[in-house]
Amino acid sequence: MEQALEQLHEEALGALEHVSDKDQLEAFRIKYLGRNGLIGSLMRQLVSIAADDRPRLGKRANEVKNDLETRFSDKQQSVSTSVRPPASAGPDLSLPGRKPVPGKLHPVTQIMEEICSIFESMGFSIAEGPDIELDHYNFAALNIPEHHPARDMHDTFYINDAVLLRTHTSPMQARIMEKQQPPLRVIAPGKVYRCDSDITHTPMFHQVEGFLVDKNVSFADLKGVLTVFIRKVFEKELALRFRPSFFPFTEPSAEVDISCVICGGKGCRVCKQTGWMEILGSGMIDPEVFKMVDYDPEVYSGFAFGLGIERIAMLKYGIDDIRLYYENDLRFLSQF
Ligand code: FA5
Repeated sequence: MEQALEQLHEEALGALEHVSDKDQLEAFRIKYLGRNGLIGSLMRQLVSIAADDRPRLGKRANEVKNDLETRFSDKQQSVSTSVRPPASAGPDLSLPGRKPVPGKLHPVTQIMEEICSIFESMGFSIAEGPDIELDHYNFAALNIPEHHPARDMHDTFYINDAVLLRTHTSPMQARIMEKQQPPLRVIAPGKVYRCDSDITHTPMFHQVEGFLVDKNVSFADLKGVLTVFIRKVFEKELALRFRPSFFPFTEPSAEVDISCVICGGKGCRVCKQTGWMEILGSGMIDPEVFKMVDYDPEVYSGFAFGLGIERIAMLKYGIDDIRLYYENDLRFLSQF
């Protein structure tokens, strides 16, 4: 029995030395250390040997078993790490390379660029202004004096009494007109901020302001420019309607709705079951605004409009919740 035990120990050590992968290691475990393995069956024979020899041989059998288990687990570690080259060997040039994932422009940036190029093709130039704006340009210069109820139309983030996050891109009308003389044909894209959030509103969103000032500009010109724009941006003939509205800086004013692209005008949760979706505000520039920038309203007339970019992107791409744009989920963003 004693000799058989030592022989088995030696044989197992020799076999373990030749093990070089996980399959061989598992075969070794089953043969020597498994429940029906050679060590186990030898230990079961201990009951049949003389009682005097049993404690000594039992102790030795345990030592052999422990030794093999320790060496087995050392081998297990070296087998699992052996595929890596040693640190000194440098990089493993046989590994396949990692494909770089190309970045993409955010869908809102893509549509903004598209909108700007459509207006550029109609002779508009591009101007940019500050997101942190003076109360004067955001409201007062647009015929919305302090305490005017029209200020409630925008849920404004104020920084202090005189400074705020602009609630629309219309302040660019006043900023440009006080520096330049007509004729003017300008668009001003950018971020705007309102304390507002639901499936069609986000607290930060993008608008493109557009305005044209010249002699003899009429509402028909406004309708013409917007109709051409909407056909170009949606690449199809969409039903659109000019709905009378009110803005203190335009007179007359109109909001423009297009038939909801999500439901085809039948009514859904995005268009609040109306079949229409509002995408912009517009109108003829109010003579009071002209007076504040020293333009003569008897000589000049003009129109202005402010487009909601996210809304246009929602309708163009069939997205039913505006907040998806700003959740930074790559599964959503990478589709564009
Ligand atoms: C304005 O902001 C006016 N400045 C537009 C204007 C410009 C009128 C020039 C006349 C002349 P309004 O608040 O309706 O208007 O916003 C314009 C568009 O911005 C809306 O039609 C809508 O498409 C979009 N919009 C408004 N609020 C949000 C919001 N919280 N999230 C996303 N889009 C919005």
